[in-house]
Formats: sequence, C-alpha cells, structure tokens
Amino acid sequence: MKYLPIDKNLFIKNRKNFTAKMKPNSLAVFNSNDIYPISADSTMPFEQHRDIFYLSGVDQEESILVLFPNCPKEKHREILFLKETNDHIAVWEGEKLTKEAAFETSGIQTVYWLKDMEKIMFELMTQCDTIYINTNEHYRANVETQTREDRYTKWLKEKYPAHSVAKSNPILQRLRSVKDPIEIELMQKACNITEKGFRRLLNFVKPNVWEYEIEAELMHEFLRNRSKGFAYTPIIASGNNANVLHYVQNNQQCKTGDLILLDVAAEYANYSSDLTRTIPVSGKFSKRQKDVYNAVNRVKKEATKMLLPGTMWADYHVEVGKIMTSELKGLGLLDKADVQNENPDWPAYKKYFMHGTSHHIGLDTHDYGILTEPMLPNMVFTVEPGIYIPDEGFGIRLEDDVVIQEKGEPFNLMQNIPIEVEEIEELMNS
Ligand code: GLY
Ligand code: MN
Ligand code: MN
Repeated sequence: MKYLPIDKNLFIKNRKNFTAKMKPNSLAVFNSNDIYPISADSTMPFEQHRDIFYLSGVDQEESILVLFPNCPKEKHREILFLKETNDHIAVWEGEKLTKEAAFETSGIQTVYWLKDMEKIMFELMTQCDTIYINTNEHYRANVETQTREDRYTKWLKEKYPAHSVAKSNPILQRLRSVKDPIEIELMQKACNITEKGFRRLLNFVKPNVWEYEIEAELMHEFLRNRSKGFAYTPIIASGNNANVLHYVQNNQQCKTGDLILLDVAAEYANYSSDLTRTIPVSGKFSKRQKDVYNAVNRVKKEATKMLLPGTMWADYHVEVGKIMTSELKGLGLLDKADVQNENPDWPAYKKYFMHGTSHHIGLDTHDYGILTEPMLPNMVFTVEPGIYIPDEGFGIRLEDDVVIQEKGEPFNLMQNIPIEVEEIEELMNS
C-alpha cells in the first residue's frame, strides 16, 4: 500500500456501529473482492471491496471478516480469516498480512488462516440463528459478474439452509454515508493531492497539447503523493468532446480557442475525491465562454448553500433546476416559451444540463447513501452543475466535494483549488 497507516480506531468504531444495528443472535460476513483476470496469467490491479475495508482496514485479497456480537465465545465475536503467510510464502508471493499486522491494522484479535474457515464457520453457524449477507443495493449498481461475496453467500445459504437471512447493505448505506472525522481527514488528503495535480496542469497546458499528455501529468503528481492514481476513469475532454458526458478516450489534441473539461481526481487510501474544472487551452476565456462559465459557477454556489441537514435529495434537484433554468434564460439558451411548454418529467433546462447535481462521495466515488432520507451532518456530497452546448463547441462543468455541517454552509474540501475565471487565467499566464 502506498498510503500511510490509518488509525485503527476508525475500523473499531465502524464495527461497533455496525454490530449495534444487528438483530440478536446473528452473524455477519464480509468478503474481499477477487483479483480479476485479464487473460493468460495477467490480472487487473487489486481493488478491495469497500465494505470489508470500512469495517477492518484489511486491504488484501482472499480475506473474510465475521462479526458475531453475541457469540458465547468472546474471542469469536470478531474474526478475520486471511490468506496464510510465513517467511517462505513471503519470498514467493510478496508481503501479506501476518496475524500481528492484521491486528495492528484492524484492532481484531482473532485472526485465523483461511484453511480453517469452514471448520470454524461450522461452529459459529451452530451458535447463531440469522446470517447477515452483503448484497449490492447501490442505486447505480449494474453488476454482471459473480463477486467473491456472491459466491460465499451462495455457499453459505446452500450449506446452512435453515438459518434466517438479513441484509447488511441498508446498515452500511446509512453508516458509510455519514463520515467519521478520520475519514474526512483522508478525503481532505485525496482532495489536496488532486489540487497539486490541477495546479501542475495550469502551468502545463498550452495550445496543441494532447489530452493524454495532461493525463500523464496528473498521474505523475498523484503517484508521487502516495495515491495509487485516479479515483475514477479521468475525463480530459477538449472542445466538443466535453459534450460527450462519459468521454474517456483522452486522445485528441487541444486547439487554441477551445476549452478543456477536466473531470479528474486522485484517490487516497481508497477514499475518492471528485473534481471538475474547465480551463481555456490558450489561457484566456472568450467573452461567451466566460459568461457560460460564470453562470455554471453561480449555480454551483447556490446549490452548495442548499446542502444542509434535513434537505431532501429530490427537492434539492428541483430547486437547482429552477436556478439553472434562470441562468439558461440569461444566456439566451432558453426562452419563456421553452419553459412554459416544458415537460415536467424532463424540464427544458435538461437540454443543456442533463445529469444530476450531486452524489454522495467517500470510499466509492458514487458512494453509499439512501437518497430518500434527509441529509445529515458529515455527509459528503459533490456539487457539479454543467452547461453543455454542442452547437457552440464547448461544455462546462465545475465540481467540488463538500461536507454538510451541523450549522451553516457546507465545508468545501476543495476550497483551495482555483475556480474563478480571473484566478485560472492568471495562473495559466504566470
Ligand atoms: N467523475 C464522476 C462524477 O463526477 O460523477
Ligand atoms: Mn461527481
Ligand atoms: Mn466528477
């Protein structure tokens, strides 16, 4: 791992919060992700399943966490099963967690090797009535593969068909959406690394630079700051590419007069940041580009002010839509008739701003959070309005990550990342 050790109290607290929500006499199981194959012996880089990470800090494949808060044997109330390691295995397979290191990471005292899992699980299953299984109920999830978690669940349900089943996901959605101060610190770190990358670009972007050269600059800056890289596939979209919302080819040359939409951000310790800035290739916005840019920036500022405890996600989006509609009228992109005749299910503003304004962010870029429940302090949201105008050859989006406060406006984790037109122009020309 490139990141510095995380205070294990975070994981101890997270487990305490999770087990407090479990039914009596129940047990919960969480699995690592698989290492996904490419072909031959090639594999994708390992990405830990965020739930087992959240509850243990274990960032290693083939790991299982079991929580059984009422287990008659105290030492079995929290168990980690890990891939075996010893000095010999370490030489061949590289460093893996020892039992001592697993305790240092997670605060879990009982660590067994994976080969003992079935036998120990048999004992635990005879002692509990309900098993919590971990399904993926994220509102954007679209998974075709069978995960390691799915395989384990299938095995458990087949082997122990008489147990009742409960869902871990709703508990985790609620817990993970409200961030601990240690998590906010880690997310601030991810945002600070992103800031370094963005500032580097302001000195680097010049007419005729290629989009992939920009990507390379960012990757360089992220890696040298202990990030493993981008928190999500970067979008580096010059000119009309910005109007393809999920443009990820990043293979075009940036032309004088064009804007570049950069939806690019670092991860740190598996926590995402999510930034969008839109900058002029030549270091200066045209009058029209500036007008649209400032309109997006005003919508962003007004939207941010609405992220308060108690706000409902759906109402918030309706209000942002109204502000955006007024800005689009000001820019001459919509007129009165467009708005009067609009379809309430797809309001007129959606022609130029067709995506949502905010999403939860944390261990996943589009993080857990139940969108039909009111917003709470210490939830972290993005704010990312945009205006996309293919007919004019550019699209503008601006995006920051903000933490909802008990009182007052949200705290912007990206407050130091240049956003005002004048600051961007000055930095690009200094
Ligand atoms: N970069 C992904 C998003 O903004 O949602
Ligand atoms: Mn986003
Ligand atoms: Mn983004």
